[in-house]
Amino acid sequence: MTLTSTHTRLIDLLPTRVSDDNGLAQDVMQGLSQSPKKLSSRFFYDAKGSQLFQQIMQLPEYYLTKLEHQILEKQRKEILFAMDTHTPFQLVDLGAGDAYKTKLLLAELVASKADFSYVPLDISDDQLNLLLEDLHHRLPKLPVQALAAEYFQGLEWLNQNQRQRKVVLFLGSNIGNFDLEEARNFLCTLRQSLNPEDAFLLGLDLRKDPEKMRRAYADAAGVTSAFNLNLLHRINKELQADFDLDQFQHFAEYDPLEGTMRSFLISKINQKVHIEAIGQTFSFEAWEAIHTENSYKFSLRQVEEMAGACGFRVQDVFTDPSHGFADVLLRPV
Ligand code: AVI
Repeated sequence: MTLTSTHTRLIDLLPTRVSDDNGLAQDVMQGLSQSPKKLSSRFFYDAKGSQLFQQIMQLPEYYLTKLEHQILEKQRKEILFAMDTHTPFQLVDLGAGDAYKTKLLLAELVASKADFSYVPLDISDDQLNLLLEDLHHRLPKLPVQALAAEYFQGLEWLNQNQRQRKVVLFLGSNIGNFDLEEARNFLCTLRQSLNPEDAFLLGLDLRKDPEKMRRAYADAAGVTSAFNLNLLHRINKELQADFDLDQFQHFAEYDPLEGTMRSFLISKINQKVHIEAIGQTFSFEAWEAIHTENSYKFSLRQVEEMAGACGFRVQDVFTDPSHGFADVLLRPV
C-alpha cells in the first residue's frame, strides 16, 4: 500500500504469482496452441497500451468516448439525482483509466457538497498514480482510495466492503470486451455484492451503422493498429519472444449477426515465432489470424434482459441524441 497524501491512497490487489506475469504466459501458451489462434484483450493494457488507449479515445473516429462524455455533461444533474447522491456513498469506478468522463460527475458532486468518497479501480497502477496526482490538484479535498485490480477482484472488494452505500460506475462500454457469458457472470456477481439501496450506472455502445463502427476500430492515423500490435511487443518484452511486428497486420470487422466488432492480428507471411519464456515455437501460415478482441455492441432490449436475469431493474436510460450510446441506471431488485 502506498500513502500518497492525506486524502488519497493506492491499494494494490493484483495477484503476485510465482512468475508475476498476471497469467500472460498461460494465456499465450493456450491461445496460440488453439485453432483459430487467440490472445486475450485484457493484456492490451501495459503502460504503453494504456497510453495508446488514451490516444484512441481522442481520435475523431472513436465516437464512444465523445458520445458518453456528451451524455454525462448534458445530463449529469439528472443522472446524479437518479442515483440518490444526497445520501452518503462511495463512488466505485470500475476501469477508471484517466477518469476523463467521471471527472464531470466528480466536479458536480463536489460543487453540490455531496458526502462521498471516490474509489477508482484500474488494472494499471501507472494510470492510477497519474489519476491520483491529477485529482490531488483538481479536487484536493476529495477522499480517494484507488484500487489496482482486475474487474473480478474489484467485485470481491465490493463484496467485502458492503457497509457503506455504493454507487458503481462501469463506463465506456468496457462490458463489451467480455463475451456474453462473461458479461452475464460479471453482472450476476456484481448484483450479489450490492444492497437494495445501491445503484449501478452501466455505459454501453449501441448497435448502429456498421461503417461508423468499423472506422472507430480501424482509424486513419493507425493508432488502433499500434494498440493491437503492442500486444505482440509486450509478449516480445515480457516473454522474450521474437515476433516481427512488421509481419503482422491489424484488421477489424463487424459481425452484424452477433453484434460484435472483432479485432485480429493477421500474419502477412508464413513464419515461425519463438517464445523463450514458455519454450515454444509457433507457426503462422500466410494470412492466418490471431483473434485479439471482441467489442460487443448492444440493443437496449438485450441489456434489459441480461440485467433482469441477474436481479437488476432498469431505472433510467440516458442516451445521446443519435442513440449511439447509452448510460443505463440499474437498481438491485
Ligand atoms: C476498452 N474498450 C471498451 C475499448 C473498445 O472499444 O472495445 C477498447 C478498444 N479496442 C480498440 N479500440 C478501443
